Amino acid sequence: MPRRSVEDIACLQWQVRLQSFRITRPWTQLAYNYTEKYQICLKDRRSSSFIYSTLLVFLLSTGIISSQEFSEISRLERMSPTLDAHQNETLKHHDSGSSLFEIEDTNLSRLLDKPRPLSIERKRSFDERSFSEMSISSPPRQFYRNSENSSRVFDNFGSLYSSGRSSVGTPRSVTCVESHPIFAEAWVFLQRSIVHFRGQPVGTIAALDHSAEELNYDQVFVRDFVPSALAFLMNGEPAIVKNFLLKTLRLQSWEKKVDQFTLGAGVMPASFKVLHDPVKNYETIIADFGECAIGRVAPIDSGFWWIILLRAYTKSTGDTTLAELPECQRGIRLILNLCLSEGFDTFPTLLCADGCCMIDRRMGVYGYPIEIQALFFMSLRCALNLLKNDDEGKECADRISKRLHALSYHMRSYFWLDIKQLNDIYRYKTEEYSHTAVNKFNVMPDSLPDWVFDFMPTRGGYFIGNVSPAKMDFRWFCLGNCIAILSSLATPEQASAIMDLIESRWDELVGEMPLKICYPAMESHEWRIVTGCDPKNTGWSYHNGGSWPVLLWLLTAACIKSGRPQLARRATELAEARLLKDHWPEYYDGKHGRYIGKQARKNQTWSIAGYLVAKMMLEDPSHLGMISLEEDKQMKPQMKRSASWTC
Ligand code: GLC
Repeated sequence: MPRRSVEDIACLQWQVRLQSFRITRPWTQLAYNYTEKYQICLKDRRSSSFIYSTLLVFLLSTGIISSQEFSEISRLERMSPTLDAHQNETLKHHDSGSSLFEIEDTNLSRLLDKPRPLSIERKRSFDERSFSEMSISSPPRQFYRNSENSSRVFDNFGSLYSSGRSSVGTPRSVTCVESHPIFAEAWVFLQRSIVHFRGQPVGTIAALDHSAEELNYDQVFVRDFVPSALAFLMNGEPAIVKNFLLKTLRLQSWEKKVDQFTLGAGVMPASFKVLHDPVKNYETIIADFGECAIGRVAPIDSGFWWIILLRAYTKSTGDTTLAELPECQRGIRLILNLCLSEGFDTFPTLLCADGCCMIDRRMGVYGYPIEIQALFFMSLRCALNLLKNDDEGKECADRISKRLHALSYHMRSYFWLDIKQLNDIYRYKTEEYSHTAVNKFNVMPDSLPDWVFDFMPTRGGYFIGNVSPAKMDFRWFCLGNCIAILSSLATPEQASAIMDLIESRWDELVGEMPLKICYPAMESHEWRIVTGCDPKNTGWSYHNGGSWPVLLWLLTAACIKSGRPQLARRATELAEARLLKDHWPEYYDGKHGRYIGKQARKNQTWSIAGYLVAKMMLEDPSHLGMISLEEDKQMKPQMKRSASWTC
């Protein structure tokens, strides 16, 4: 093997990195990002110019950028003060429309002789129009460096195309496979977890762990299937997702009873299982709508995830026919009827029983838990995209719009906590009456827990766990805050503040294994009262402050959306170091997530899928579009509560 020069190696490294990003639209920002990085680390302007030329030619020759884009980047480049004259000459040369290979430097053709051709086939997806309109009104944010020297890339990934690759069974992402061997292993496990019904793949089993009692871990859970589905979509395998959506829709139409009581028509199952009768050689499905679940609670999140997944499928494949089926339209309306019906509510948030979501045991998450409110918000926005413009669709869309308006106002105003708001609550007066009350819910300042004063950084904030009369649950919950970012329930400033908090409380929230399901844990007396002495939910275990690898995909998506992919990379590296070795546990225990969970299942599918989705999104950030919604300008906050909203 011939010895390579430093420049050659640097160029090759660029090529590899570029491949790993599969750059499409964000090429300008990423190119600048890399240039900047190299200028910083090489401190040699000639070298970096050389590399920059190589980069441009590489992008052009592999078809990642068109000649028009090449010209545009050249124009921008000429405005950059960091380039030397030689570079400008080269770029001008190309700007004038000359052939790519007329570039003078002979080294370039040598370096470029083996770029792997990338076929970047992008499909315009169904809600592209609204996204691109948004990106016109809000130009991509330029990357910049924050105090911790982390580069941020612009956050308009929601407007990107999702890839429509095809063929089944193996990971498409060569770069990810090369970059870490556990990526390939994870795919093998994910494929193994697929559940078939009458010959068709319909979902993935919760855990493939025969060493522990199976309970219901041998079922296909709706919420657990979401990261699997995203992984399949990202890998160009939409069939299993479509089958799943149709199968669960069928289950929705079953009559659902707990004892003598009939559940609402829109309720979606928490999970289902395929039963095989070996005598008749016939398969049937049984489903659990909460009648078998611990605590007998119906899963409110299932319906929301179903709508979110239907939108992800539609956006990823560009196939609108599934969502347009009358039964799908009806399914969406039935789910939302459960939430939009009029009653005694004085709040636009959704009143819930404990344990109706990912945290499916008693954990003091009854009332108005952030997880459900954020998913509710996101599914309402997805439904707006999916509903047809017929009479029934329009009627439902009107109700949705009104609710979204009130919900975003309520959440952004009353669930949001930052240092200023915390200080305001600390100084609240109580027993106020009438419309002029500041402390609307009559929250007692004495109910503020000690930990929250230390936990709250000077810069940063989050949506708290719950707000109801005289009750604020100050715990930080991962899923709700990440979904708030992805759905744009959080304003861009709030999204940034949430990320600031995660960065500054990294040890507490990520520690040695991403990511805390909630923070902090309840212990001793509080644990006894709130969990009812649940031995599975002791302090820093399971739902009570345990660390759940599945949450990595949500963190990654939120990081990419808010322009901090490097944070997600850090978290992914932590997960990579242990997950395969530990056999993909369901959760980890301890303040820093150092120990495999007391009762954690091994080969937990969503731990595997969560990792795959995180990796694939980091490799190709355009995937984010299937699970992210841009800000709706009409839902701008009407009131400003504190500094972190405006900074
Ligand atoms: C546990 C989790 C729940 C998950 C299920 C299957 O019950 O709390 O969120 O869906 O396991 O993995």
